[in-house]
Parts: sequence; structure tokens; C-alpha cells
Amino acid sequence: MKKITLFAVACAVAVPLLASSAYAQFAKPEAAINYRQSAMTLMASHFGRMQPVFKGQAPYDAAAIKANVAVLQTIAALPWAAFGTGTQKDSNAKPDVWTDAAGFKAAQDKFSTAMTQLVAAADAGDLDKLRAASGDVGSACKGCHDKFQVKK
Ligand code: HEC
Repeated sequence: MKKITLFAVACAVAVPLLASSAYAQFAKPEAAINYRQSAMTLMASHFGRMQPVFKGQAPYDAAAIKANVAVLQTIAALPWAAFGTGTQKDSNAKPDVWTDAAGFKAAQDKFSTAMTQLVAAADAGDLDKLRAASGDVGSACKGCHDKFQVKK
């Protein structure tokens, strides 16, 4: 009984707090921007570090690639929730992220599909498939940036 009461109190406090913030998970728009840019930076690091292997400039260590792809897959799920309304100002996201929400979602889906293929290729330990899937992932990054990221 006591637990239930505490839970009810917690909800009564938490719900208005969530509803009043610009975007539920983040206290301020700057926090959301910082979060998604950080996730993108980490994606670039974990994607970029595999390229020498795919280009044949470094030896293929199947276990190391598999572990790195798993990290990349985890990070790849993170940025999207941080593109809430009211978080465009002072970022490099184009207004199209919000005015063309369906297009932005489609670009995420394309990326997600390519990531699924990359994970499958890493699990299979198949370097040719990894190369192909990595190419698709790279195109999905670029495809989205061309449409939705401000060029500096
Ligand atoms: C569905 C769209 C989309 C996909 C897919 C995507 N990005 Fe981004 N990316 C963006 C947007 C939009 C920004 C600008 C974010 C901002 O400034 O708030 C961005 C910013 C970045 C930045 C700059 C971060 C900073 O510090 O300002 C890097 C680096 C980056 N992306 C790398 C990648 C890589 C690497 C991939 C693929 C593995 C990728 N992105 C996939 C949309 C995308």
C-alpha cells in the first residue's frame, strides 16, 4: 500500500515536469543538441575506424569488427530521440528535419536497414558483405546529411 502511494506521488510530480519541458528527456534544447551531436561524433568514430580494414589497409580481425559494430549499432539508435521540436536553433540541423518529418524518418529507416546488414555481415564474419554493407551505411549517413544537415 505504501509503495503504491509513493508511486502515485512520484507520478503526480513527474508528469507535469515532463510535460512542461521543451522535450521530455532533456532539460533544455541545448542539452538535446549536445546529446545528438555527441552521438553523431561517436558514430563517426566507430564507423571511421573500420574503414582501413574494409579498404584492405589493415588486417581483418573478425572479433574486433564484430565488437565495434555492436557498439556502433547501440550508438546509432541514440540521436533520433534528441530531435524534438524547438531544438533547431544554434544547431546544424536544417529546418527540414521538422518540416519534412516523414523524409527525415525515411532517412533514419534507410540508415537502420543498412546497419542491420552491417551487423549481419559482422556476425557472419564475411568481409565482402561487410564492405558492401559499410558502403550502404556510408551512403545513408551522407544521404541524410545532404538533405538535413547544414553544410559548414
Ligand atoms: C537520418 C539522418 C542522419 C543520419 C542517418 C546520420 N546523420 Fe549525422 N547528422 C544528422 C544531422 C541532422 C546532423 C546535425 C545535428 C545538429 O547539429 O544538431 C548530423 C551531424 C553529424 C555530425 C556532426 C556532429 C557535431 O558535433 O556537430 C557528424 C560527425 C555526423 N553527423 C556523422 C554521422 C555518421 C558517421 C553517420 C552514419 C554512420 C550519420 N551521421 C548518420 C543527420 C544524420
